[in-house]
Amino acid sequence: MIRYSRLVGALPAVVPFVPPEAFERRLGHAIRIRIGANESAFGPSPKAVAAINAGAARINWYCDPEGYELREALARHHGVARENIGLGIGADDLLGLIVRSTIDPGDPVAMSHGGYPTFAFHVAGFGGKFVTAPYRDFRNDASALADVAAKNDARLVYLSNPDNPTGSWLSIDEQKAVLARLPAGALLVLDEAYSDFAPTGSLPPLDPDDERVVHIRTFSKAHGMAGARVGYAIGAKGLIATFDKIRHHFGVTRLSQEAALASLGDQEFITSVVARVEEGKRDYVALAESLGLKALPSATNFVAIDMGDGDRARRTLARLLDDESVFLRMPGVAPLDRLIRVTVGTKTERHGFAAALTRVLARN
Ligand SMILES: Cc1ncc(COP(=O)(O)O)c(C=O)c1O
Repeated sequence: MIRYSRLVGALPAVVPFVPPEAFERRLGHAIRIRIGANESAFGPSPKAVAAINAGAARINWYCDPEGYELREALARHHGVARENIGLGIGADDLLGLIVRSTIDPGDPVAMSHGGYPTFAFHVAGFGGKFVTAPYRDFRNDASALADVAAKNDARLVYLSNPDNPTGSWLSIDEQKAVLARLPAGALLVLDEAYSDFAPTGSLPPLDPDDERVVHIRTFSKAHGMAGARVGYAIGAKGLIATFDKIRHHFGVTRLSQEAALASLGDQEFITSVVARVEEGKRDYVALAESLGLKALPSATNFVAIDMGDGDRARRTLARLLDDESVFLRMPGVAPLDRLIRVTVGTKTERHGFAAALTRVLARN
């Protein structure tokens, strides 16, 4: 019998997300409308695709483990130094690096109850102890989060802004209030995976000299490159250098780095994606209204629709999958579990979803 470590041996056998591919294996056919994982419906930039094609024959080479060119370009883009940028295998990897860098088993970590599951997964995986604040009106409650962090002397405080799974966002002042009350020596993680969709006044300015805050960004959303796995942290040089001690140095592959670099240079494409996402969100709001439901305001590439109660939300999700072959996700814990979360799809996918949801609700 293999002896597992005490920490890993005690973990529950859960994965944060069941992938759509697993549902397809169960259903025995392809999913018809895949709008559950907040992937971009609008693909990657043609420039990113060209970079991947151009680099394909060089896949025999390792990547540059320092990610020099991409970090240099990101630094210029954000007006910081290259040493303030740390690459990760998607934002999710960086969340893991942050947790592993900052907590010892048993250390308290503060987040909203029902917040982004992958962060919670890493905290559990590295032995952290959750202290949570409830969402309030389907938004992160900045003052409750600051309270719970202060009361428990949290080492890490996590805030997804704009937020997954609700789509909500906090003002800069609300975020500043959390920072002002951060326990001594603690780190505030601002997960800004949806930053490209964020309204003006909701992203605090970057201050790479402030050791108390790290910002996490990704190429998975507006850049449409979730499968490439490229994320980055913007933070103080000491924190970024710390990741070097534990990260997978060759994890952000050669093609991924080249594609991200090309995509970063195609801001026109990003602007057009953001505009198309805004249009899609308006469609979902109108759809919800026409069905007597409420869509929550969203600063992301998805819309959360309030089904009124958890059972109805779960039933709707199951029927959409099994009867209509439409893949959606929903938050797992109350009170957020009355929401279903719909990623903005193409116009065709949105029409298909509208028809499917209408049928499902008529039958149930
Ligand atoms: C809040 C949040 N953080 C991080 C991620 C993961 O991003 P990545 O694909 O870069 O790992 C997601 C993806 O849905 C997200 O919603």
